[in-house]
This record gives sequence, C-alpha cells and structure tokens, in this order.
Amino acid sequence: MKKTEIIAHRGSKGTHPENTLIAFEEAIRVGSDGIELDVHLTSDGNVVVIHDETVNRTSNGEGLVRNFSLEELKMLDMGSWFNSNYKMCSIPSLQEVVDLLNQTQFKGLLNIELKTNKYAYKGIEKKVLDILRKQSNAFSVVFSSFNYQSLIRLKKIDEKAEIALLFEDYGENRTLLNQRILVEMWHPSLEWFKSVDLDQTSKVPVRLWTINSEEDLIYCFNKKVTGIFTDFPKKAIAIRNEK
Ligand code: G3P
Ligand code: MG
Repeated sequence: MKKTEIIAHRGSKGTHPENTLIAFEEAIRVGSDGIELDVHLTSDGNVVVIHDETVNRTSNGEGLVRNFSLEELKMLDMGSWFNSNYKMCSIPSLQEVVDLLNQTQFKGLLNIELKTNKYAYKGIEKKVLDILRKQSNAFSVVFSSFNYQSLIRLKKIDEKAEIALLFEDYGENRTLLNQRILVEMWHPSLEWFKSVDLDQTSKVPVRLWTINSEEDLIYCFNKKVTGIFTDFPKKAIAIRNEK
C-alpha cells in the first residue's frame, strides 16, 4: 500500500512566503513528496508563479498580474508581507522553479495549477507545456484547474498530460471531461470529501486540500487518500512517520 503523498501547498506556505523559490526550497529540504504552485500570465507572455490574480496581498505593489511585464513584477518585494526577513524574495517564473527542481534533482510530483478560472490567459496551456518540454525532468507533473476548458486545451496539445479536476462544494465530480477525455484524478476540498461517501460514488483517486491540523492529517492518512496538500509539509511528514 502506497503512503499518502504529502504535497507542499504553494511551497511550504505556512513557514515561508507562498509560491517563492525559498518556499519551494524548504518543501524539498523537508522531503515533501510533491509541490503545488499556481500560475498566471504576464502582459509580455511569461508564465509566473503566484496565487492571486493581483499582487496586492503578497507583495508591496498593487494591480493585476496580467498588467505587469515580468521585469516589472520582478521589482516587487514578495516576502515582507509574510516576514521582514524575506524582503529579498521576488516572484518566480515557472522556468525558474523548474530549474530549481532540476538543480536539486527533485524526483517527486510537481502540481501546476492553472489559475484560469477568472482570466483565461489565452495560450497559457501551450506556454506551460513548452517550458516543461525544454529539458528532461526527473520529476513528474500533474496539471489541475478549476477551469475544465483549460484542462481540455492541455489534453488537446498533449494527450499524455496528466490532469486532475479541482473542485470544492460546487464541484463537478465528473469522470469524463468530454466524450474522449477520461479524468484520472480528483483534487477536491476536504469539506467535499467529508460530505460524500466516496465508496458509493466513485473509485477516482483523490488528493485533498488544504490539510493542516493534526486531526485532519490523521483522518486523511487513515482514509488512505492518494495525497494531501498542506501548508506545513515538515509537520505532516513527522505525523505520517509516527503512524
Ligand atoms: O490545488 C489545491 C489548492 O491549491 C487549490 O486552491 O486556492 O489554494 O489554489 P488554492
Ligand atoms: Mg493552488
């Protein structure tokens, strides 16, 4: 029986500024099985790693990510909002994260969440795939999105791309994306998972988010779910090891 994968949500989000290189380094250092990150597109067509559509919450700037060029975004401080020790953090491009994973010989799972549910970011699917195809990577990749059209576009470009449906209470827990595309994995919220009897509904494997408390972690490990997303990968690994 495989152990439940521990996936660092936006890097080690609970201990470091989310979606920055330092948060991903920490996730790798503590031995996370996987890393989750969110991507958007800049005004000059670069794929960048940040959670929100705006820079307001996680930087010293203001405005929509899509209205900044990569160079302009790079000038923002993405760490001080979390802790003044992280003033030097800047927004990473997806390419920089891929480079980090290769430099550290990361062999786990990279989950790229396409944040295309508010802005479709025309062409982002191909750009993301092109970045991953540039070199051979030792890590594996799964793509997820709340926008299922984005997942269909990915599959049309690369039918081997592994996809997962993201959903919460309004979730469409489908097993088919369209007549041809089979869904192999669900990434639902813990709340949704607790509200259904999965044995009665489907055998699609699940990775659940966001699992931070000891009680929820133990619940998920006992349920033997495929994976969990957590802001505290070090703590989650310690709890899993105790079991
Ligand atoms: O992929 C799981 C989780 O990241 C989805 O929600 O808002 O944290 O991107 P969010
Ligand atoms: Mg996410």
